[in-house]
Amino acid sequence: MASNSVDQPLEFERSIKAIADSSNLEAVPSKFNIANDYTALPSDSIPLLDFSSLISADPHQRTKAVQDLAEASRVWGFFILVNHGIPESLMKDAIAAVRDFFNLPESEKKQYESKSVLDSIQCGNLTLANTSNQSFTFWREYLRLRVHPDFHCPHHPQHLREIVMDYSKKIRELYMKIMEAAVEYLELDKHYVDQLLKMDSMAQMVVGNCYPACPQPDKAIGLPPHTDPGLLTFLINNGVEGLQIEHDGKWFNVQSPPNSILVNVDDHFEILTNGRFKSLKHRAVVNKERERISLVVLNTPAWDAIVGPAAPLVDKDGSALYHSMEYKQYLETSIAQSRLGGKSFFEQQLIIQDI
Ligand code: OGA
Ligand code: NI
Repeated sequence: MASNSVDQPLEFERSIKAIADSSNLEAVPSKFNIANDYTALPSDSIPLLDFSSLISADPHQRTKAVQDLAEASRVWGFFILVNHGIPESLMKDAIAAVRDFFNLPESEKKQYESKSVLDSIQCGNLTLANTSNQSFTFWREYLRLRVHPDFHCPHHPQHLREIVMDYSKKIRELYMKIMEAAVEYLELDKHYVDQLLKMDSMAQMVVGNCYPACPQPDKAIGLPPHTDPGLLTFLINNGVEGLQIEHDGKWFNVQSPPNSILVNVDDHFEILTNGRFKSLKHRAVVNKERERISLVVLNTPAWDAIVGPAAPLVDKDGSALYHSMEYKQYLETSIAQSRLGGKSFFEQQLIIQDI
């Protein structure tokens, strides 16, 4: 674990939610205060991917969908998944159950206060140091659960467990199908990839994010620019906008259609593909009017898998652009480091630089 102040959760007596919910809060308290300019362009150009075409029995339709998937992963690193088959009611219930967790009394949430990034259940407010070593706390409360291969979930609220179990299993099924299609596009052997990533024991993490309404949205940030660890992340929210993604050096607001799921390529997918697919930066901004809840499912290699560029792709390309590392080691070190402003841990440690 890094020796700086990063990833030191604050005392939980007054969570961000409690602070934000307190009446007459007119200004952002200093520990959350970070000047920012998070303007972004509207975007209707984030690619849509029709999941039903990806699993279609019609070979032309499927081939086209596989190409669309690859194009979106190469160019944007993001796509909006539609016709995915997960019932809208389950998605709504999952968001509501996570919101119910955040609404529990502070004393109940406190037992899950984050101690280590490897804990099975963690909740808290993250504080990071920026490039000038000033620390600030995100305008966000999180609940992070390891749900596969072993399933962990708080006992309260009671309905959370069953809903998260059902939702994360359905996401796992989508994930497997999308990975299969991507592997086909990359002309890799499925068994080779399954073994490399130890797909049987793939790890899955569910993260609930609560971004309370904020009196001065330009003086706080929900989540600063970052990339996600793992292979593919699936995100839904409560209909309140706030996610922004970087593309071609510009930032875009994400407006996803109802009942869609935003999927993004993560660091280890970029590594596996030796840079063909891109893990791009995204961030969450806050707003004055409404609380925003997002539910994120991270699908990752098994913790003991050594992830590096796939050998057949390295052979084709002539060299590996990334170092290999045990996934767990990456998690321990990367999350413990500041990923603000400058380069992410991913950029610092895993990309082989041309000297
Ligand atoms: C994340 C993330 C964005 C959001 O949890 O990694 O990027 O909109 N969340 O909540
Ligand atoms: Ni993210």
